[in-house]
Amino acid sequence: MLTTFILALAALQPSSVLGRQLQARDTISNDNYPFCDPATNKNCIVGGKYLVPQLDFSIENDVGDVAFKRYLPTHTFTISQWTNHKMPEKCYYWAVTADQWVATDFRVYNVTFSDCSTPFVVCYHKKATKTINQISTEISRLPVKIRQATSMYLVYGDADSDNNNYRGAIATLCDDGIIVGRSSFYFATSLIHETGHAVDCTLASPDAVHPGHGTEYSSGTAWHNAVVMDGYAVSAYGAGSYVEDFADTGRAALLDNIYPGGLAAFANNNPNLTQITNQVTNFKSVVGAYYTTGGTCDKTKKFPYPTDLVTV
Ligand SMILES: *[C@@H]1O[C@H](CO)[C@@H](O)[C@H](O)[C@H]1NC(C)=O
Ligand SMILES: *[C@@H]1O[C@H](CO)[C@@H](O)[C@H](O)[C@H]1NC(C)=O
Repeated sequence: MLTTFILALAALQPSSVLGRQLQARDTISNDNYPFCDPATNKNCIVGGKYLVPQLDFSIENDVGDVAFKRYLPTHTFTISQWTNHKMPEKCYYWAVTADQWVATDFRVYNVTFSDCSTPFVVCYHKKATKTINQISTEISRLPVKIRQATSMYLVYGDADSDNNNYRGAIATLCDDGIIVGRSSFYFATSLIHETGHAVDCTLASPDAVHPGHGTEYSSGTAWHNAVVMDGYAVSAYGAGSYVEDFADTGRAALLDNIYPGGLAAFANNNPNLTQITNQVTNFKSVVGAYYTTGGTCDKTKKFPYPTDLVTV
């Protein structure tokens, strides 16, 4: 079975170091601003147009990231390190086989949050610059109803010299319920975007058998029609593909649900906000109920705890 691999950029400034880090594995990040040019990228949606002025919600410490930190409460958690010299098979496959990190450089933890009795597994590389506590705090901020679309977090070292074969930033392996990336990319708005990919093939999927994954909602005509009807992607990064536009719409929908006064207030009544109405409305009609704070994870929806293990 093929596993979907979505390389998803958290930070979207094409001129930045972050943009360059992704180029090795991201086919759409070579464009100069404007981010998506249909002449050079055939995946470019709706003619490459996107909401302008842009919603300021894509990089660490920008207005959106600060809003997520302010309005998404963290949750307490317990951490329990594995001592059986095993790691989940999917963690081994992606981190060691695919991304060529050294298996014995990882510590494996169960992290159990106060709002979900099923533990999440964190495969944590010893060179990561954020501690397991910091990583768990960032994950705890994700609304549990979308966090439940994941089961594992692979946390890598941050320096290129930690692994000369890895040049990624952060990504989502939707079919496996995995978010994977450098520890420096574990911050609020980045995780909201990535979790949007996890939601895409699980909670939003038209054919997933829960708890499990299916076809991405963003690949279907309902989503495509909403985008085409609007004629503008939600963001410059979203203009790169329907799947990225879906994940970025998750940021907008969440702000609409949690920000005082909703998305319009967040965007200072951006006169062009009407250009993304169909996408935000469609997104909220499918998974908006999950993009809220509070509650607990649902056993019938929670992406399963990984039980297939390998010895390291
Ligand atoms: C609204 O969008 C149009 C079309 O993209 C653009 O020309 C215009 O400058 C935008 N308005 C503002 C206030 O940025
Ligand atoms: C991790 O959680 C699983 C599932 O609940 C449990 O079986 C296992 O014993 C836990 N391991 C540790 C080290 O806490």
